Parts: sequence; structure tokens; C-alpha cells
Amino acid sequence: MAHVDLTAKIPNNVDLTSDKRLQRALEEWQPKFVDWWRSMGPEGFQAHDVFLRTAISVDRDGWANFGFTKMPDYRWGIFLADAEPDRKVGFGDHMGKPAWQQVPGEYRNMLRRIIVTQADTEPASVEQQRLLGQTFPSLYDLRNLFQVNVEEGRHLWAMVYLLQTYFGRDGREEAEDLLRRRSGNADNPRILGTFNEPVKDWLSFFMFTTFTDRDGKFQLLALSESGFDPLSRTCRFMLTEEAHHMFVGETGVGRVIQRTAEVMNQVGDDPAKVRAEHAIDLPTIQRYMNHWYTSSVDLFGGERSSNAADFFASGLKGRYKEETYADHLALEGTYELPVRAADGRHMTKELVPLRNAMNEVLRDNYVGDCEFVAERWNRVLEKAKRPERLKLPSRRFRRAVGIYAEGCYDPEGNPISAEEFEAKQAQWLPSEADLAYVRSLMHPVQEVGKIASWIAPPAKGVDNHPFEWEYVRPPTVA
Ligand SMILES: [Fe+2]
Ligand SMILES: [Fe+2]
Repeated sequence: MAHVDLTAKIPNNVDLTSDKRLQRALEEWQPKFVDWWRSMGPEGFQAHDVFLRTAISVDRDGWANFGFTKMPDYRWGIFLADAEPDRKVGFGDHMGKPAWQQVPGEYRNMLRRIIVTQADTEPASVEQQRLLGQTFPSLYDLRNLFQVNVEEGRHLWAMVYLLQTYFGRDGREEAEDLLRRRSGNADNPRILGTFNEPVKDWLSFFMFTTFTDRDGKFQLLALSESGFDPLSRTCRFMLTEEAHHMFVGETGVGRVIQRTAEVMNQVGDDPAKVRAEHAIDLPTIQRYMNHWYTSSVDLFGGERSSNAADFFASGLKGRYKEETYADHLALEGTYELPVRAADGRHMTKELVPLRNAMNEVLRDNYVGDCEFVAERWNRVLEKAKRPERLKLPSRRFRRAVGIYAEGCYDPEGNPISAEEFEAKQAQWLPSEADLAYVRSLMHPVQEVGKIASWIAPPAKGVDNHPFEWEYVRPPTVA
């Protein structure tokens, strides 16, 4: 395993001291990152001691070290998964050639674009979540929020390392711009739509970490296949951190559902009665799910995409588990894409050349994974002996990107008129009143072992500590 230097100013396992120019560039960027963190990271709590895990190696077991840390002192570092000896490009036109250790000149711009687009989502999500610390449902949840935030910060480091190392002056400029764009800013927004939407309440946070971080998982899996080896190794280690973000999201929503089920068992399923108990009624949870899932589905891009074809052909971005496919060229074969028929009221199929359908192939994997999540949430209802079930909407519902953005579809994926969509919108998507209601429930719960009225406590705490533990501690006054 590559040696991990934890004592360096920038912890790393890439032997940073051997490249003085790079080391200097990153050490120059470091204070700018910390400034960004202080102004755009979590509001408040910067002087608190937070029980956080920090990466100390890239071994599958035991890469994490738990301890109390002040967030601005977090050891953001550069960690790449171990190199696979003699790794080859696994797909596309360069299939079978040695994986690139340097940027192939002809693909420089494409690769930079892929890295910058991924990189931009990392600080964006920290910005989106920056006010949630003011309304945390428990100290356990607050700690989880901050864990996700510092790790998204580390993901930015992971991507900036690639930009600074392999893209010279352009890379340095991109690294600066990553700290300049702002989520939701009209003049200088983040690159992708979902990452400009505010995450104003904790139900949104849990939906975001379930669905939007899961988009991240699939993008990272596709980039782990990359023939550009440093990108592959970077993404492989990022995935180990990403798993925790999705755990926070999925168990978070699961605990909200559990609490709602308990309340429904006491007062019945009337949303007004559930709300009278300060819990979140199931139809509102479903509407939040519809919103965040569809927003995240958009992140995979257009169904027919020449960019996706180029990314695959060049060997830069592969498929989820590329090794499970028999044909790594994808020059033959088609993808059956459901499209709206000429009559506008039915669906028919169009055959898209496989390479051009790579976004859709990855989206299929994502949708399948989300179906499992929905099943596990329904098991919470089942266990509580509730007859209700949650359901993922069709991937055609409420799209803003791709072919389904034209025309309207209902949550089952049937084509409908704009008037019908308009008329039913309040049934399907969170209304202003829903958002205001959920927001009205959000109050900080400071006491150790206490939890808000709208969510059940977790099954267990962090690193063998009980739920009833002070995971975030105010600064001690000397
Ligand atoms: Fe991330
Ligand atoms: Fe994440």
C-alpha cells in the first residue's frame, strides 16, 4: 500500500513531498479552501468539538479514525486507492491498451470537463446544507450532517488534486473557480441544477443524501472504470466515504417514516391528525420523495447523448461494473428508449445506438438501486403493521433534462397534458404549505439523548457509542 503521510500539512498517500511544485500549488490553495469553508461551510459550530471520522489509510478495513475535531481543523487530505498493477483500459476504442498515467492530449478538454463537473458538486452540497445546523433533530444527526459536510470538502480536495497535478495552469484556474461559484447564486451558480436547489429542512437533507448522493455514487462508479488511472483510483476511495452519506439519507428517511407510522397507529392516517402530533404525514413524505428523486434523475443527463458516446469511446467514463459486460466496445447493439408516440398520448420505442445511450444505461442502474431503497422504506411501514406504501415515481415524471422534459407525464410515466399536470401538482409535489409545515417542525434539539417529534431515534449510535451521547460539544472555555 502507498505510504500515508499523516503528519504532512496536507495528509496524503501520493508522496506529495516528491513534487515540490505541486506541493506548493496545493499549499497555496489550502488557506483559500479553509476561508471558503469558514464562510460557506456549516453556519456556526466552527469552534465546537465534533465526533468525526478521518481517513488514515486506504485499507478496506480500518481506514477511519474517530475522534473529536473542530471542523476547520479537519485533516482534509489526498487519498487514492492502491494502484492495480498493469491496469488496462477496460472499454471503448482504446480497450486493452495500458491505462493512462498522464492525461492523453487528445482528451484533455473532455477529461477536464468530466473532473470539473464532478468536483463542482462537492462544495455545492456543503453550501446547500449550511444552515441545517440551526435546526438539528438530535446531536447524533448534527454529527452526521457535519461528517457528510467535511467529507464533501475532502472530495473537493480529491478532484482539485487531479486538476492541479495533471492540468497545469488551466487546472489551477479551475481549482480557484471551484471556490468562487456559489450554490443558487444567480450570477455565478454551481454547474448542475440540483446543486443549486436549497436544502432548507432535514427531510430534504435526508432525501438529498439518499437520492442525490446516490447519483454521486453511480457517477463515481462509472469514473472508477476510467482508463485515466489517477481518476479511477481517486474515485474508488471516494466511494468508501460516499457509502456513509447514503446511509445517513436512507436511515434518516426511514426514521421519519417509522415515527410517522407510530403516530398513525395512535391517531389514524388523516394527515391533519398526524400533523397535530408534530409528525410528518406520509403523503408529504411521498411528495418530498417525488421531488428529490426526479431532480436527481436529471443529473444523469440526456437519454441520447453524443457526449456520453464520446466519454465511453475515449475510455474516460465506463459503465457500472464494466467487467460484467461481455462486449466492452458497444459499437453494435441498441438501447430501447421509450418515447412519446406521434399521437402524443401513447408511448412507443426508439432504438438508440448503445454508445449514445450510456447515460440511460447508468440511469437504469441508479433507478434499480433506488427501487431497493423504496422497498426498504416500505419494510419500515410493514413492520409497523401499516397498510400504506411509498412508491418511486416514473423516471419520466417532472423532468427538466432530456427527452421527457418536453411534455408532461404523471408519476406512472403516462403522457398527460400540461393542464392535468398543473391541476394535480399539489397532490404529487410538495406545496408551499407542505414546505412551510415541515419547516415549522425544525427546531434544534440540544439535549443529549433527546430527539425531535417528527423522527425516531436511530437503532444505534456512532462507533459503538450510544445514541444518548454528546456527539457535538461546545468549545471549552479556558
Ligand atoms: Fe461527494
Ligand atoms: Fe456525498
